[in-house]
Amino acid sequence: MELSCFGSHLGWAVCVLALALLLRARRKGSWHPGMSPTDLTGKTAIVTGANCGIGKYVALDLARRNARTILACRSRERGQAAVEEIQRATGNPNVLLRIVDISSMASIRHFAKQIRQEEKRLDILVNNAGVTETMKGSAPARIVNISSFRHVQGMANMKHLTGEERPKNFDQSYTSTKLMNVLFTNELARRLQGTGVTANSLNPGIVKTEIMRHFNWLTRLIFSIVSIFLMSAEEGAASTIYCAVSEEVAGITGKYFDSNCRLVLPSAAARDLGLARKLWEASERVTGLAESGRM
Ligand SMILES: NC(=O)c1ccc[n+]([C@@H]2O[C@H](COP(=O)([O-])OP(=O)(O)OC[C@H]3O[C@@H](n4cnc5c(N)ncnc54)[C@H](OP(=O)(O)O)[C@@H]3O)[C@@H](O)[C@H]2O)c1
Repeated sequence: MELSCFGSHLGWAVCVLALALLLRARRKGSWHPGMSPTDLTGKTAIVTGANCGIGKYVALDLARRNARTILACRSRERGQAAVEEIQRATGNPNVLLRIVDISSMASIRHFAKQIRQEEKRLDILVNNAGVTETMKGSAPARIVNISSFRHVQGMANMKHLTGEERPKNFDQSYTSTKLMNVLFTNELARRLQGTGVTANSLNPGIVKTEIMRHFNWLTRLIFSIVSIFLMSAEEGAASTIYCAVSEEVAGITGKYFDSNCRLVLPSAAARDLGLARKLWEASERVTGLAESGRM
């Protein structure tokens, strides 16, 4: 391994550690789920990617508030294990598994159809694993899209969406997806104005989860060294739960929250209304929703 490469990774490790310590210090005294008395009896919530990490703790909190909680997972085995764990921990029998692989449009369509057939309402949708319906009839309802502080390094290249170009590496793909998450949320919020359905995005912070399995060995090593300073998955779920249930966020839409549950401005690119519209239109073309006329 070249020394310069190691040096740059060391520099990166110091930055991650400093950021994790800063975020952790600022989290002290900020909002936590126990501060909200919100009861979700009679409400239905979906959390994508809920079998581990942040998503599992979000689902656990919603189930604890008596929501009919749907864990949308790609693995039946891992999803079922999480359902059983959450049922045991909360005593809520209305925790169920539905299968979806959000990297496949066919799977998303099948999932959406199943939800429309089976569910009378949908009050909370947490797009934790990575994308929306049935909600206008359940207003007031909330859509929460999980982005990342790393969206600032992203670029919204529509050719990546259409498949005309491929991202150079996982990191470019990740940061661009996270930028697109914020842009998509803002345009969705604009289009949902007046319906009673809100859409917000957020950064959960630097959280100790299974996310590192997607990165190279050196990044994993760096994260395992600084991991004791990182937020736990339970702590990392707080900002998502805040956006999904807290009274303070009722009616707020098209906004971006930080890991301390504070309203902050995302990057300039993420606030570009023209770019958000272009991304929406490209997404409509890729998904075929433009022809169906359905949002
Ligand atoms: N951890 C952090 O420091 C951090 C920081 C900023 C933002 N975030 C964001 O927080 C969210 C949750 O991440 P995490 O840290 O909790 O990661 P994680 O522990 O890896 O959990 C990710 C979850 O998403 C599921 N998933 C991944 N690809 C999927 C697909 N194609 N279809 C269906 N489900 C899929 C995974 O299922 P499998 O178990 O089947 O893979 C897993 O349940 C992500 O949007 C991430 O970008 C995390």
